[in-house]
Amino acid sequence: MKMDVFEMERAMSTWENLVDYDISESGVKPITLRNLVEMGFDLDTWMDKPLKYSQANGTIELRQLLTGQYPGATIDHIEVTNGTSEANYILAITLLDKGDECALAVPNYMQLEGIAHAAGAKVNKFRLQHENNWQVDWDEFEKAVNPQTKLVYITRPSNPTGSILSESALERIVQRCEEMNAWLISDEVYIGAELTGDRTKTCWGRSDKVIVTSGLSKAYGIPGIRIGWIVADKQIIADAWSQHDYITIGPNILSDALARVAVTTENREKLYQRTRQAITNNLEIYRQWIKEFNGFLEFNEPQAGAFCFIKYNADIPSHQITEKIIKEQSTLIAPGSHFGMEGFFRMWLGGNPDYIKKGLTRVGNVLKSIM
Ligand SMILES: Cc1ncc(COP(=O)(O)O)c(C=O)c1O
Repeated sequence: MKMDVFEMERAMSTWENLVDYDISESGVKPITLRNLVEMGFDLDTWMDKPLKYSQANGTIELRQLLTGQYPGATIDHIEVTNGTSEANYILAITLLDKGDECALAVPNYMQLEGIAHAAGAKVNKFRLQHENNWQVDWDEFEKAVNPQTKLVYITRPSNPTGSILSESALERIVQRCEEMNAWLISDEVYIGAELTGDRTKTCWGRSDKVIVTSGLSKAYGIPGIRIGWIVADKQIIADAWSQHDYITIGPNILSDALARVAVTTENREKLYQRTRQAITNNLEIYRQWIKEFNGFLEFNEPQAGAFCFIKYNADIPSHQITEKIIKEQSTLIAPGSHFGMEGFFRMWLGGNPDYIKKGLTRVGNVLKSIM
């Protein structure tokens, strides 16, 4: 199966360890193994346990803990994966066949587009509108989700816009998926990373057509242990497990054990609180920085997520500007084109404030030269 290059991930993996400042990231500064030990992970016991294969679909204990976040779900509604990206990948290859159609909200974390192309499916897009506070363009949506549509993918909260689809918008999307008999994947890896307001409610349980993916990489701040999950109808979970057997068999035994500590209600809330504090503090830095550009830069302030999606007013492709910033200032930010929307940059909200400020100064040097 031939894959398109996943441009955003490839650009990040190429440059993130070479530049002086990487402010293209999308999570908060990760926690450490010591932090997890302080939260209850028994490292000493693990020193003598055999590093065998773990339960391939996730240990019963971990799946049981996860059911607490998804009312009505049982352990048979959950498959534990190596990150949310593996969850999305497995679902796309489980659900899409050649000639099917799938629909994606854009801008978006574009993983699903590449997999759908490789599976021979047609990709229809519907826009989230910057000028309308990132609400859905409903005309485009009605065209994109049609009787041929097998799968619809949204991120809620959204990467890269940082917006959260309203309850009424979500209801309309769910209803259309039911009418068209399409599966709706709600990627919820940013739930818990809200800057203000209430916790985003999971989409799980709104309809039999809803599937949720999530993981520990973003709101929990633990990307390195690579734990994600799928919550879905039992048959979808059974089919996804068959795919998983061929790809990675299952998650790493240590990661599953670490995840069992992170997802308890008490620890999860502590981790979410840590994330919220980091991103809320840094938002003020962006507010001040953007003022320096006298209208050349603008943004709808994010409601969630660890990034700002910033609009620039120049008729220059975003990748040309980000390449100039790498070359002249050794600083990495992500171009809007990597998320399916030109005229924007995605910039990191989750880092150390001092680091972010220094990175922004470098980015500003280039932007001021093209204003
Ligand atoms: C919306 C979304 N889903 C999934 C992923 C991948 O997450 P993971 O590290 O859990 O594989 C990302 C990473 O940026 C993301 O933004």
